[in-house]
Amino acid sequence: MQVCAVILAAGEGKRMKSKHAKVVHQAAGLPLISWVKAALDGANAEDQVYIVGHRQEEVRAVLGESVAFVLQEQQLGTGHAVQQASHFLEGRRGATLIMCGDTPLVTAASLRSVLDTFEKDHYAAIVVTAHAPDPTGYGRILRDERGHVQAIVEHRDATPEQREICEVNAGMYCFDTALLLSALGRIGCRNSQQEFYLTDTIEILRQDGHKIGASSLPFEEVLGVNDRRQLQESMAILNRRILEKHMIDGVTIVDPATTWIEQGVTIGTDTTILPNCSIKGSTEIGSDAVIGPDTHLVDMKVADGVRLDHVTAVESEIGARAYIGPYSHIRPGSKIGPNCRLGNFVEIKNSTLGADCYLIHQCYIGDTDVGHNVNIGSSASTANYDGVNKSRSAIGSHAFIGSNSCLVSPVSVDENAYVAAGSTITEGVNEYALAIARAHQINKEDWVKTRGLNRNQRLNP
Ligand code: UD1
Ligand code: CA
Repeated sequence: MQVCAVILAAGEGKRMKSKHAKVVHQAAGLPLISWVKAALDGANAEDQVYIVGHRQEEVRAVLGESVAFVLQEQQLGTGHAVQQASHFLEGRRGATLIMCGDTPLVTAASLRSVLDTFEKDHYAAIVVTAHAPDPTGYGRILRDERGHVQAIVEHRDATPEQREICEVNAGMYCFDTALLLSALGRIGCRNSQQEFYLTDTIEILRQDGHKIGASSLPFEEVLGVNDRRQLQESMAILNRRILEKHMIDGVTIVDPATTWIEQGVTIGTDTTILPNCSIKGSTEIGSDAVIGPDTHLVDMKVADGVRLDHVTAVESEIGARAYIGPYSHIRPGSKIGPNCRLGNFVEIKNSTLGADCYLIHQCYIGDTDVGHNVNIGSSASTANYDGVNKSRSAIGSHAFIGSNSCLVSPVSVDENAYVAAGSTITEGVNEYALAIARAHQINKEDWVKTRGLNRNQRLNP
């Protein structure tokens, strides 16, 4: 069966109080509309047309070239919105799914089951419904005494008895494409909002003698995002689904309430995620790793057996069994080799470190290529920025950089060289050499006594 989809995304979304289109707001790593698209892709809706209006450039930018767009210049109602897709649908057969762009929680499996029912039982249309804990604001499903769907009545147009109905229209439908087109041409706007209601097509088709069905989904799947509270609610639900999937796949997540993992992150088995972590973008984590607590990763590649404790790391790679933290910042463009030990308050930027390097205490390495088995002492740093330009430095394998030394880039310290503590290195250091670049120490004997500055009988003020 050919499956098309029309997605309504022209509305302004006033209640978001945002300068952006509602459907481009993100939840769990994807814009709302991309969640809808993913569900439709998963249900094999091969031809998708998105009805855009408000901030259409943002919606187009998010969805890209693989789908069609139609501009709805004035938002005259959901029926009017779908009418804009008429040209797109004409001549097509099979089914058309209609969705709103702000319902990120519907799953591909649910859409597939709606399509299956539609095809098997030859319906003209299926309305997706849900039982709402509070149906206020939703369209209500009207059924006859035999339980057949008769019509949908909007909350504003409903009688007090109709408002008692808790079965609501989810705003998702599956139509026979040709019948949808025939009904769309006949909807009017005689209702309290003077809008063209898509929901009126249901009654029109029933009056034509066609069979209308209803598929009920859990309310959670049909939740729409209209304001920031519902946005948060959908983020939490999507996050919980993602965490559950990882747990089922063999990842230990100690505290789901404080763990936020975006769609698209992969994690190997026997990895443990400790509390207060966010793992985002295209991050890949291997097996047997321990991540957290308080660790934030964006677009990272983290190999097997890595331990990250209070680390923020972005767009970088960390090799197997490296142990980083507590309190380190790995900035974009870095590559940390296997078995490295980076300790307290270490910052690495746009640098490569070979295997087995030790930087245990606070230090800064920027724009530097470090070999393997290098030891860098506490408070050592690279001066990679002269105020105008950045320069790169290199530290060869097995080198030892003493505490509180400063490498003024560009400079290179060759393999097996030593830099003495407190040195400011401005010239290259050859293999096996020791560089000492600090003022000679002068000790003045009995200076304290001769100056009368003896402190051993005085307390601090
Ligand atoms: C609609 C349904 C209601 C259902 C509810 C579920 C109608 C008449 N009512 O009501 O039965 O319970 O959804 O959430 O269909 N849009 C456009 N262009 C327009 C109008 C709307 O693109 O001209 C888009 C909006 O951006 C939104 C969606 O369509 O994403 C739904 O429109 P909205 O006006 O919010 O309909 P509801 O009143 O929620
Ligand atoms: Ca709505």
